[in-house]
Amino acid sequence: MSSVSDPAQAGTLEATIAAGINIALVKYWGKAPGTDNRPAVGSLSLTLDAPGTVTRVAFEPALVADTFRLNEAEADLRPVTRLLDEVRALAGIATRARVESRNTVPTAAGLASSASGFAALGLAAWQAAGLGRAGDPLDRRLVDLVRRGSGSAPRSLLGGFARIDVETAGVHPVTAAPGLEVSLVVALCADGPKSVSSRDGMALCAETSPYYPAWVESHPADLRAAEAAIGAGDFTALGEVMEHSTMKMHACMLASRPPLRYWAAGTLAALEALVPLRRDGRAYTTMDAGPHVKALCRREDEAAVADALRPVARAVLIARPGPAAHATTWDAGAR
Ligand code: PMV
Repeated sequence: MSSVSDPAQAGTLEATIAAGINIALVKYWGKAPGTDNRPAVGSLSLTLDAPGTVTRVAFEPALVADTFRLNEAEADLRPVTRLLDEVRALAGIATRARVESRNTVPTAAGLASSASGFAALGLAAWQAAGLGRAGDPLDRRLVDLVRRGSGSAPRSLLGGFARIDVETAGVHPVTAAPGLEVSLVVALCADGPKSVSSRDGMALCAETSPYYPAWVESHPADLRAAEAAIGAGDFTALGEVMEHSTMKMHACMLASRPPLRYWAAGTLAALEALVPLRRDGRAYTTMDAGPHVKALCRREDEAAVADALRPVARAVLIARPGPAAHATTWDAGAR
């Protein structure tokens, strides 16, 4: 007879979750003191319909060790096992897990693949271990679990606009005015993984950039402005504050010692290509800890923005607001 105290043996064996990447409109950059990977500033993001991550976690009693395959190849097991160990401790199980992940995001290229990755892994492990089911309200322990993997991952647990509060590190949906229909056009501007991880970049910036205190101090006003713009359906106000938050973050990075520059030649080429649309208030840009440019526009302008970017970008993706992390089947895959 199987033990009912061990959900893995009682048959609650596996779960598969899809999560979309999210792009911060008001950026998170910097960590609070301590070891819990809490942010030093809040953030506000948009979860996209694609690209993203699909992850299957299966707790299998016969396994002697966890396994992890990413895009059909063996991959670094350590962050996965760290998360699984936390889930096992919470669920009171010892069973090892087989983890498979399919990522349609260029991994570690500054396109937030860690956010969709940890959101999908965390929720799949959570449900497979019997800690929760599809449709449950968001459990604070799950939010903390995925944040310890990646500071931006809690935002991919939610769909659409989401906000992380600096005081509590909790994540909350941000309701948009019904008329606010936006797209995010992503221009891939360079190949290969980024040279400095965001974790190391944040530490360098906090330690050496004279602009870091100003970044932290001026941040709450941007969050308030962005949330008000979303609530009022004010695309222009949202675009302007998004652009401002991005440029402040990159100015802070550039003033580090040694300077931290995530932009490539292709980044500037993409920004240049958008100058006419920006002048008309039709496209606003944001860049993360990587070279790629994401342009926020109204839905009706997404084709024009993509057309402007195509001649200078390696690839262009048109994304729209996407759903919260959700159960799927392994075969359904990620777009
Ligand atoms: O999620 P992390 O720890 O890789 O940090 C992400 C930081 C930025 O992408 C630059 C900004 C953000 O809020 O997503």
